[in-house]
Amino acid sequence: MPQDMHCIIGAAGQLGTELAVALHHAGERVLLLDIQAPTYPALLELPFETVDVRDQAALSAVFGAYNVTHVYHLAAALSARGEQDPQWAWDLNMKGLLHVLDLAAGMDGIAQVFWPSSIAVFGPGSGVVAAQSAYRLPSTVYGISKNVGEQWCSWYHQHRGVDVRSVRYPGLIGTLAPPGGGTTDYAVEVFDHLHGPDPYTCFLKAEERLPMMHMDDAVGAALQILSAPRASLRCTEAYNINAMSFNPQELFAEIRRHVPGFKVEYAPDFRQNIASSWPDALHDDMAREDWGWAPKIGLPALVSSMMEARKVQTPSSPH
Ligand SMILES: NC(=O)c1ccc[n+]([C@@H]2O[C@H](COP(=O)([O-])OP(=O)(O)OC[C@H]3O[C@@H](n4cnc5c(N)ncnc54)[C@H](O)[C@@H]3O)[C@@H](O)[C@H]2O)c1
Repeated sequence: MPQDMHCIIGAAGQLGTELAVALHHAGERVLLLDIQAPTYPALLELPFETVDVRDQAALSAVFGAYNVTHVYHLAAALSARGEQDPQWAWDLNMKGLLHVLDLAAGMDGIAQVFWPSSIAVFGPGSGVVAAQSAYRLPSTVYGISKNVGEQWCSWYHQHRGVDVRSVRYPGLIGTLAPPGGGTTDYAVEVFDHLHGPDPYTCFLKAEERLPMMHMDDAVGAALQILSAPRASLRCTEAYNINAMSFNPQELFAEIRRHVPGFKVEYAPDFRQNIASSWPDALHDDMAREDWGWAPKIGLPALVSSMMEARKVQTPSSPH
């Protein structure tokens, strides 16, 4: 019985790094694909191929050479960067997904595909707490590409038999790799500005509440949905998953429990408009019922884990 081979496309990115580490630590065989080499030390011993996901022939050759069985397609232009170069974002996000789905449909060895969607599929009219089937009029090119991508996933499942599974991630917060140009990046980058002489400048308003998730829960969701029996999955697009919601001033208040002198100022930019089109939270009952989704990490534990990872000396760390 040949062993599984897990191929992560976009492996050098924020989520790819964490997913690769988790799969590797679980004893799985992992192949890393990206246009830039991963830099996280634990990944340097894993096989890496420089492949542009827009090059389907190159992608096909690598899948075949490594007998890939599971594909995690993470390469994408994110919300904020996508607005700055819409044609590039559309080309990368749609072409990449269609190449992966097409290869999965045509290659017998590929058993499963994981492709993340996003809260960016929601927009005005989706509701403050977005339901699984909420009205969707995305406000960004990124959101449009995720919304259409979900429909392509559903089509490839129904008409080509591809076992592709997806979740709508909120803002992801992790420690191993920097964020790649999203609207929720402030909640990661702030941890690199806690002790400087200048206040941290937040690009969202103090009151802008958004759904967020620790990387451990994000990686857990990907692995959990892939291990669920296919018959239990009623949703063929992407599942809402929810973990916590906070606004910048609530995050910074939690940080001040560790770093009392931490200072911040607010200078909302174009990302504020994107953020204000997104819901505060998501209803995730269907994910909980169908495959047992249950987040483990809330705001206090998230901040503690970020502080610990950055080895910040805290004069009065609470427990
Ligand atoms: N990070 C979040 O908060 C968040 C939230 C919701 C959904 N997501 C989704 O999760 C996935 C991963 O996001 P991320 O935050 O890790 O992104 P990221 O920007 O950190 O990483 C993306 C990776 O893709 C690589 N890449 C770019 N173009 C490529 C190409 N043409 N071919 C191959 N690789 C290419 C980049 O070099 C980078 O390493 C994306 O689909 C994103 O939409 C992320």
